[in-house]
Amino acid sequence: MRLIVRGGTVVSASDVARAEVLVEDGLIVAVVPPDAELARAFADRADHVLEATGRYVIPGGVDVHTHMEMPFGGTCSSDTFETGTRAAVWGGTTTIVDFAIQPRGGSLHAGLEGWLAKAEGRCACDYGFHLIVSEVTDEALDEMDRLMAEGVTSFKLFMAYPGVFYSTDGEILRAMQRAAGSGALIQMHAENGIAIDQLVLQALARGERAPRFHGSTRPAILEGEATERAIELARVAGCALYIVHLSAAEALDRVAEARDRGEPVFAETCPQYLLLSEDDLARPDFEGAKFVCSPPLRAPEHQRALWRGLATGDLQVVATDHCPFCFREQKALGREDFSKIPNGLPGVEHRLDLLHQAVTEGRLGLARWVELTATAPARMFGLFPRKGTIAPGADADLVIYDPGRTRTLSAATHHMAVDYSCYEGRPVTGGAETVLLRGRVVLEGGRYVGRPGDGRFVARGPSRAVA
Ligand code: URP
Ligand code: ZN
Ligand code: ZN
Repeated sequence: MRLIVRGGTVVSASDVARAEVLVEDGLIVAVVPPDAELARAFADRADHVLEATGRYVIPGGVDVHTHMEMPFGGTCSSDTFETGTRAAVWGGTTTIVDFAIQPRGGSLHAGLEGWLAKAEGRCACDYGFHLIVSEVTDEALDEMDRLMAEGVTSFKLFMAYPGVFYSTDGEILRAMQRAAGSGALIQMHAENGIAIDQLVLQALARGERAPRFHGSTRPAILEGEATERAIELARVAGCALYIVHLSAAEALDRVAEARDRGEPVFAETCPQYLLLSEDDLARPDFEGAKFVCSPPLRAPEHQRALWRGLATGDLQVVATDHCPFCFREQKALGREDFSKIPNGLPGVEHRLDLLHQAVTEGRLGLARWVELTATAPARMFGLFPRKGTIAPGADADLVIYDPGRTRTLSAATHHMAVDYSCYEGRPVTGGAETVLLRGRVVLEGGRYVGRPGDGRFVARGPSRAVA
């Protein structure tokens, strides 16, 4: 199968240039100047010619933080692997890395098997897994080493959610010591959950029950404190550390200081922390529940710090933390008590488009947009150079992106299986027009033409962020 993407502006993490992309049997075989002899000869024998004049040609997005069909907060995130990955493709994302969960009293492998079974044959895009370590036992530590050879090379630990996923500092240190030995990447949910639980109890005792108290009981200081503790534990253990869903200026400062000292500390933020705020959490009539996630949405000064972090490089990745719960049936579980609102927001479909607004506003360069949404996450999580780049030998995961398309985001038109949009009514410029997954067209001219099972499990190598 030969295919050529012709006439577009190819955007990579380092270059923006007119070029033609030649694809054979699912792989990129060459990227050549327009009208090069090679391209003409290739086009003559191609099975498919895709016209990209006036469009960007970008690597398929890599979203390294999703939760499809995740049991959480007494319910289950509303996107299945089928619906969630299809929505990802609509938005130009061709690889997700989701989180398998070690069951309580069970093994890491049991968690992985369970999540592989949920995803197998259903995904519209390629997928890999991190593992959430919910109990740091000797067996789990041995499994972490073994999983490195099985394509699972990153492990999430929680300083939040006591009684659910929470690990003590001692347990975290032990997992980090293993990671130092194996080259695994430790991902940290850095919020001081022990202190937060006290603040939640105190708020409820005062009769503070509305969604906005979810924010006031999870102060930025406790994200900064946990981030600093995680960094120091990683320093003692000698391992690399990746802070997930960083939301607070205090936490970013700690990451920046560690990086300035030369430590292998990395961080991601998410569109919701860049674009939404505690004002959304305070919307009346329980509407704020739509915006309950952890860490919580913060005051606008934190947004400004995060945008700065993207510009300075102290933040390396933008992922979605896609974890949707329907407003009517699921968020409603916390109508009388904010602490019972399932934590998480939908977002897998809109990451590229939301960040593209920053490109149109001149806040992000085109190449940085691609770096943050595809190349850096692929490197960070051992998918590069197979994913996240447009280069010979890479998978032909390509997006023909129309930078001029305009539309208004809405639950009425999005493809995620959730009954609301955090960005309802927001106009956006730009959109994925055609998407290729390993050379196969899965979205064509704004029409989904893929099917469940197009996506395959991707075994990941070790992180290349520190290599
Ligand atoms: O509120 C969130 N972030 N829900 C998903 C679970 C997590 O901690 O990432
Ligand atoms: Zn988390
Ligand atoms: Zn998450």
